[in-house]
Amino acid sequence: MGKLLIKGATVITMENHDSVFDGGEIAVEGQNIVSAGPAGSAPEGFDPDRTIDASGMVALPGFVNTHTHAAMTLLRSYADDLPLMKWLEEKIWPLEARLEAEDIYWGTMLCCLEMIRSGTTSFADMYFFMDQVALAVEKAGMRASLSRGMIGVGPEAQQALDYGPEFVGRWHGQAGGRITVRLGPHAPYTCPPDYLKKVIEMAGKLGVGIHIHLAETRTEVEDMLKNYGKTPIQLVESLGLFELPVLAAHCVHLDERDMEILAAKKAIVAHNPESNMKLASGIAPVTALLKAGVAVGLGTDGAASNNNLDMMEEMRSAALLQKVSTMDPLALPSFQALGMATAGGAGAMGLEGQLGLLKKGCKADLILLDAKKPHFFPRNDWMAHIVYAAQSSDVDTVIIDGNVVMEGRKVLTIDEDEVYQQVQSRAERLTK
Ligand code: NI
Repeated sequence: MGKLLIKGATVITMENHDSVFDGGEIAVEGQNIVSAGPAGSAPEGFDPDRTIDASGMVALPGFVNTHTHAAMTLLRSYADDLPLMKWLEEKIWPLEARLEAEDIYWGTMLCCLEMIRSGTTSFADMYFFMDQVALAVEKAGMRASLSRGMIGVGPEAQQALDYGPEFVGRWHGQAGGRITVRLGPHAPYTCPPDYLKKVIEMAGKLGVGIHIHLAETRTEVEDMLKNYGKTPIQLVESLGLFELPVLAAHCVHLDERDMEILAAKKAIVAHNPESNMKLASGIAPVTALLKAGVAVGLGTDGAASNNNLDMMEEMRSAALLQKVSTMDPLALPSFQALGMATAGGAGAMGLEGQLGLLKKGCKADLILLDAKKPHFFPRNDWMAHIVYAAQSSDVDTVIIDGNVVMEGRKVLTIDEDEVYQQVQSRAERLTK
C-alpha cells in the first residue's frame, strides 16, 4: 500500500472548532488516514513513498455533495426562471426524454470535473442510465452513492424496478469500494404508495438504502395531505420506508412530528439551499433539524436548478439563510456549516464516522487550498475564512481514497478538453 505524507499545511481536522494545526501534517496509508495533526504527529518510523510539501496551504476534508443529478450539467442554463412544475413539465422532462446513454456519461464527466475542481470528493446521485454514471465515477476517481431515479406513475415503472437488483449486483461496492448503490424512488408525488411498498421490500432484500426527494415544496405537502391525510414524511413512514437507511433530499416543509420521525429513524437530510432558493421552494428548517438531532448534509441538486456544483457556495448560503430566516446571527455558525458540507454527509455514503474528518481510520478524502490569497488574510479564524471567504478556485489539490486526483489545479483523471468538446456537441444536438 502506498504511503503519502502531506507536510507543512494548516490542518483542519474538523473534530472540533479548535482542532486546527498550523504547519501540521497528514499521513496516509493506502485508502486511509493514519494520522492528522501537528508537525511530528505521523507514526514513528512512517516511511512515505511520496511527500507533498503543502506549505502555505490549508488541508481539510473533501466536501460530500449529498444530492445531485450529475448529468443535468447538460441542461445547465437551458431553462431558468420558471415555476417548478412548468420548468419540469415543459422544459426538463421533454429534453430528458431525448437523452441517450452516452450523453449521461459525458454529462456526469462534466459534473465530476466541476466537483473535483471545487473540492468535492464524493456525491450522492439520482438519475437514469446509471451504469454510465458509475463508469464516469470510476474513471474520474470519485466516491459516489448511486441511485436510479424511479418514477412509479410513468411507463418505465416496472423497468425501474427490474433494474434495481441488476444495478446493485453490478456496482454496489465496486471501484475499490468507492461506489455504493441505493434505490431511488423519486418522490411520493411520482411514486404512489403501492409502488413505494415494492421499492421498500426490494431494498430490504438487497440490503441497500434509499435516496428520495421529500417535502420539497408546499404544494407537495398540501397534495399529500389531501390525497392521503398525511405529510410526505408521515406517509412514507407508514409504508415502512424509514426501516431502511434513508437519504432524504430537501425536507423544506416539515412539522414537529416530521422532524421527530427523521431524528428517531436516523434519516440523513440533504439540504440544498441554492436549489431551494432558485426554484422558490422555501427555506429548510436546518437549525431546528440539527437541534432535533437529525444528521444534515449539504447538496447542490442538479446543475439545471442551481446552476453550479460549488459546495463552498452552498455552505455559505446555508449559513446565511439560517441566520436571516431565524433573525439570529448565532444560527449555523462556521464550524457547523463546514461540518454539514463534510462529515454531515458521511452517512449518505454509508461511511458515518469514517468520512468528512481528518483523523486516524478515516478515508483519505481531503483537499488542499492555496491560502496565499487576499481573502485569507489576516489569519484570525480559519473556520470563518473557509465558510465566509473561501472560493472554490482556491482548491489546489484533491485526494480521494488515498489517490491524488488533482494537483496544482490540474485534474489527473479526466481529459478536460475532451469533456468540453463532447458536452458542447451533445447539448447542441439536444437543444436544437
Ligand atoms: Ni433533486
